[in-house]
Amino acid sequence: MTNFQLSTYNFQLPATFFIETYGCQMNASDSEVVAAIMQNAGFTIAGDIREADILFINTCAVRDNAEQRVWGRLDFFRQLKQRRPSVITGVLGCMAERLKETLLENGTVDLVAGPDAYRSLPQLVREAESGQKGINTLLSREETYADISPVRMDKNGVTAFVSIMRGCNNMCAYCVVPYTRGPERSRPADSILAEVRGLLEKGYKEVTLLGQNVNSYAWKNTDDPSKTIDFAKLLELVALEDPALRVRFSTSHPKDMNNAVLYTIAMYPNICNHIHLPVQSGSTRLLQVMNRGYWRESYLERIARIREIIPGCAISTDIIAGFCSETDDDHAQTLSLLREVAFDAAYMFKYSERPNTKAARQFSDDVPDGIKTRRLMEIIALQNRLSLESNRRDVGKTFEVLAEGPSKRSPGDLAGRTPHNKMVVFPKAHCKAGDRVSVKITACSSATLTGVMI
Ligand code: SAH
Ligand code: SF4
Ligand code: F3S
Repeated sequence: MTNFQLSTYNFQLPATFFIETYGCQMNASDSEVVAAIMQNAGFTIAGDIREADILFINTCAVRDNAEQRVWGRLDFFRQLKQRRPSVITGVLGCMAERLKETLLENGTVDLVAGPDAYRSLPQLVREAESGQKGINTLLSREETYADISPVRMDKNGVTAFVSIMRGCNNMCAYCVVPYTRGPERSRPADSILAEVRGLLEKGYKEVTLLGQNVNSYAWKNTDDPSKTIDFAKLLELVALEDPALRVRFSTSHPKDMNNAVLYTIAMYPNICNHIHLPVQSGSTRLLQVMNRGYWRESYLERIARIREIIPGCAISTDIIAGFCSETDDDHAQTLSLLREVAFDAAYMFKYSERPNTKAARQFSDDVPDGIKTRRLMEIIALQNRLSLESNRRDVGKTFEVLAEGPSKRSPGDLAGRTPHNKMVVFPKAHCKAGDRVSVKITACSSATLTGVMI
């Protein structure tokens, strides 16, 4: 990593930075890389946003409301800057990549850096400090930040994200991610394993391997290109690092979820029995319009194989309501698929047209907003019932829970997740964050389980 000449900064060193993060887990993981790059260049993390010299906002562009939230925060940054004009503000992440220099037209923003440009942040800060607006939104075919040791900002010291690949080549018609994150590239397996080992040494108990489509992970051994490490193999190598380390991964693409991965999950008890498998729609016709590369029947076949190879595996999904040309019949098929699969959990969204995507260029956003909302409400109501039923089936059972920290709602209690990724709240007793405990489930809501240690 380049260490920039600190003497050229006018800051009264150590200048401090604060990062606010929006969007998916990949963004949370990237903020840790940003923190590392900034720290290596001599900056320190500010404890309070109001005291920071540099304000970064790591943004999401996946739906319009994600961007609106960022504009709201930039208003707040403007107020902070009015009070302290020396403050430097930087927009990072997917919205930076999408909107590029237009962000600088908003007087509040001093620098813009896309997801592959974080190594240049110290330089961009220096330019901004000297009064120039700095921008770097170059996307890369190679950048994986493999050599950078992320600064863990989760603070629980128990669970950590490990990025295994970047970008996406899938071009789902509705999705902005391939444009904001660039082409898919896998991170060298040895650097992933080294990061996992480092986490184990620091006492971490769980890792989540991250990528937009982890199932297409592929790393060719540079010494022996005939040997490719695919996702099933990588998962196995991570699981073998320590049988006590819990291993999760996200996100899987249904078209790439092969049986080898399922057998690996079944074989290693420390790989959590939970798969997030976004289906988006239950209608084959609409899945084709979305360019998802699978159809209803093949998705259901994957679900059947998951349940056969990993009995009891929890499955969650993502759904989009009201995509271009969606009819009442398509929507009814989504509802029927939800019922048929009985997902344990789901993230559900109203379709939001993103500029320059295939859908924006070629299709009409023709489902009226009122109908999108009604369909989304029906999907949410049904899934809430299904989530509640899934949770009720767990009442009376005992699960191994990894305590992550105090419960947000009742700080006297601890919260942690089951291998199935369900949040459990239970009385603390003598137990602390990082402990693996057996918890008997005594009650539930559609979102959370409650229980007692046994
Ligand atoms: N790579 C992951 C998901 C990335 S985005 C995957 O392929 O599954 C997370 C979720 O946001 C998607 O699964 C989808 O359900 C939703 N999403 C993406 N673009 C959207 C859009 N334009 N409008 C509404 N929801 C969208
Ligand atoms: Fe977007 Fe599709 Fe890539 Fe997921 S797989 S990030 S939904 S383009
Ligand atoms: Fe959002 Fe970018 Fe993630 S658009 S969902 S932060 S990849």
